[in-house]
Amino acid sequence: MGILAGKQVVLGVSGGIAAYKSLLLVRALEKEGAGVHVIMTEHATNLVSPRLFRELSGNPVSTTMWGDVTNHHVAHIALATLADVFMIAPATANIIGKIASGIADDMLSTTITATTAPVVIAPAMNTNMFCNPVVQRNLQTLRDLGYHVVAPDAGELACGTVGAGRLPDTDVLVFAAEQALAAGLLRGKRVLVTAGGTREAIDPVRYIGNRSSGKMGYAIAREAARQGAQVTLVSGAEALPDPAGVEVVRITSAREMEAAVAARYETTDIVIKAAAVADYRPAEVAAQKIKKEANEEAPTLQLVKNPDILYGLGQKKTHQILVGFAAETENLLENAAKKIAKKNLDMLVANNVAEPDAGFNTDTNRVTFLFRNAEPEELPFLSKDEVAERIIRSVAELAKAR
Ligand code: C5P
Repeated sequence: MGILAGKQVVLGVSGGIAAYKSLLLVRALEKEGAGVHVIMTEHATNLVSPRLFRELSGNPVSTTMWGDVTNHHVAHIALATLADVFMIAPATANIIGKIASGIADDMLSTTITATTAPVVIAPAMNTNMFCNPVVQRNLQTLRDLGYHVVAPDAGELACGTVGAGRLPDTDVLVFAAEQALAAGLLRGKRVLVTAGGTREAIDPVRYIGNRSSGKMGYAIAREAARQGAQVTLVSGAEALPDPAGVEVVRITSAREMEAAVAARYETTDIVIKAAAVADYRPAEVAAQKIKKEANEEAPTLQLVKNPDILYGLGQKKTHQILVGFAAETENLLENAAKKIAKKNLDMLVANNVAEPDAGFNTDTNRVTFLFRNAEPEELPFLSKDEVAERIIRSVAELAKAR
């Protein structure tokens, strides 16, 4: 369970066509362990029945200041205070304009005026409305005041036009809520994460690969973004979907990974190399599929060394914080300590991949953190998401000490 577990989300639904998608958002927030309390504008109640929101959220739905549909005492203040995070999805031009100018004339606009919780606004409307300079000015006003504005998706809209204005997918909205709740430990930092294994081609259909799933690196990228960093994920993982709020650069081989990392190194503050990079690649890649019939004897694969990307980064390090991973099957701490010195790292995450519930392709991990100038820290058995949180916390400490 993540940062939303046990939190109360007050979800404002205003009268855009995307209001139906907010039903899915209620479910997704609940899946994360949050309680959801819905406030609908009168317009929204003409599009979706408040009963649906009540059934899905299991809580009363507020639609008016004056009715008796809610069981909250001085309802707008009670809800404003209850909120750990406040979301408006979809947010129409109307509610955006009202908030930006301080109008409080219905339940939603009044409650939002009374809250001190972080607020996420997800605009969704026709492209021309969204691009209207007044709406854009209002959104900028909200951003300047610290509201979290989620960029709408571009695409075909319900009104038939094509352009920006679509409510983003539920996972993007949930992520925005998580980001609003997080402490912002890496705000303003540029973080580069590598994840997954590399594939080294033998011929057009065969390759040398490894068992890395990319789960650890993806969890790190997600957590860094949640904590406010601008994150690029250089990934060799094939099976994982792009995490919300992260730029993903897909690569196949070690040399492609090296090029993708090198191109961004100068402008990066923190590099976390969770990828399982192949140490060797075939010396030659056959142009055509190697045929059984053409080889009486089994062919011999000649290997050459791949660049050690992390080592190279350590040599060129100026202002960057460098974090490496060590997957060992024996003498874990001893080998890890050597690696931190040899590769000029600031931190190393060592895991023993010989254990069944740690390392490759599991959802859990047992790791030890090693630092350049501090004692090793052995972590308990944790989920990879929890390990990612601890890594980012430690990295944020290192960045603070700079
Ligand atoms: O030396 P070893 O391969 O065990 O070091 C592991 C660390 O170095 C990991 O952080 C991995 O991403 C990185 N690495 C690399 N380039 C390689 C091999 C490993 O960047 N060719």
